[in-house]
Amino acid sequence: MAIQAEQPVHGSQVEEKKNVHTEETSELVSAKDRTFKAPESNAFGQSFRDYDIESERQKGVEEFYKLQHINQTYGFVKKMREHYKKLDKAEMSIWECCELLNEVVDDSDPDLDEPQIQHLLQTAEAIRKDYPNEDWLHLTALIHDLGKILHLPQFGELPQWAVVGDTFPVGCAFDEKNVHHKYFKENPDSKNPAYNTKEGVYSKGCGLDNVLMSWGHDDYMYMVAKENGTTLPSPGLFIIRYHSFYPLHKEGAYTHLMSEEDFENLKWLHIFNKYDLYSKSKVLVDVEKVKPYYQSLIDKYFPAKLKW
Ligand SMILES: [Fe+2]
Ligand SMILES: [Fe+2]
Repeated sequence: MAIQAEQPVHGSQVEEKKNVHTEETSELVSAKDRTFKAPESNAFGQSFRDYDIESERQKGVEEFYKLQHINQTYGFVKKMREHYKKLDKAEMSIWECCELLNEVVDDSDPDLDEPQIQHLLQTAEAIRKDYPNEDWLHLTALIHDLGKILHLPQFGELPQWAVVGDTFPVGCAFDEKNVHHKYFKENPDSKNPAYNTKEGVYSKGCGLDNVLMSWGHDDYMYMVAKENGTTLPSPGLFIIRYHSFYPLHKEGAYTHLMSEEDFENLKWLHIFNKYDLYSKSKVLVDVEKVKPYYQSLIDKYFPAKLKW
C-alpha cells in the first residue's frame, strides 16, 4: 500500500495553462518511474529521460484527478465523515502514529528514499528554526500528514483519490481554479442544481467550518485531533484541515465562503505551506535527538492515547 511521496512537481499544465499542484500525487505515477529505465541519452547524445518521466508523471497525475473529481461527491463526503467520526479503528498515541506512517512509507515509496517521518520532522524543524516561540506550529507540522494512515487496511484502505491530492468544497459549484476542472463534468453533483451555484448549499461568509470538503487525510486528521480534545490553537487546526486546499491558498478561490477567523488563520497556512513544500533536505533529522522535544509538545496539546 502506498503512501505519497510529497515531492512537488513543478510545471504548467498545458491544457489548463496554469501551475498544477501535484505535491501529493507524484508517487502514484512515480511507481512507473521505478520500473522505467530510460537510456541516459538519445542517438544524438542528448538527454531525454527527464522529458519522458515528466510526461508519464503528468499522465498519472491527470488520471488521479479524473478519479478524484468524479468520485468526491457531497454524498460520499457525508458518508466518510459519519463513518470515520466513530473513531473505532485504533487507539494509539501521536508518536505511535508517526511510527506507523513511517513504516508504511519506508516500505513502498519509490521517490523518497527517506522515511515519511523525515518529511514531518524536516518540516517541523525548519519552522522551529524560524518561529522558535510558536511551539504549536512545530507540533502542527509534525502531525499534519498523519491522516495518510487512511491508506492502511486497518483504517479502511482508502484509494489514493480519497486520501491525497488537492481538496475542494463539495455542495457548491466547482471553481474553475481547481486543477483539471474538466473532469468535474463527470461528477454526479454537476447535474444537481442545488450544488451548482457559487454558494450552493452554503451562504456567503458562512465560514469553512460549515463547508464540506472533499474527503482526505486533512479532514480526517482534523477530526481525530478535534474529537480527542486537542488544545492546539485555531490556526494549527486550520493548517491540518486545509493544507491541501490549494484552490484556496494558492489560487485564491472560494474566499466567499470564508469567515473573518478563516482569513486570520489563512496567514498561518501560507507560512506553513512554504515549509511543507520546500523543507525536504538531504540532511536527515536525528529522530532520537529531537523526540523528547516533540514528545513534550504532544503531552502539552494531546491526551496520551487518541482514538482513531
Ligand atoms: Fe498533506
Ligand atoms: Fe506534507
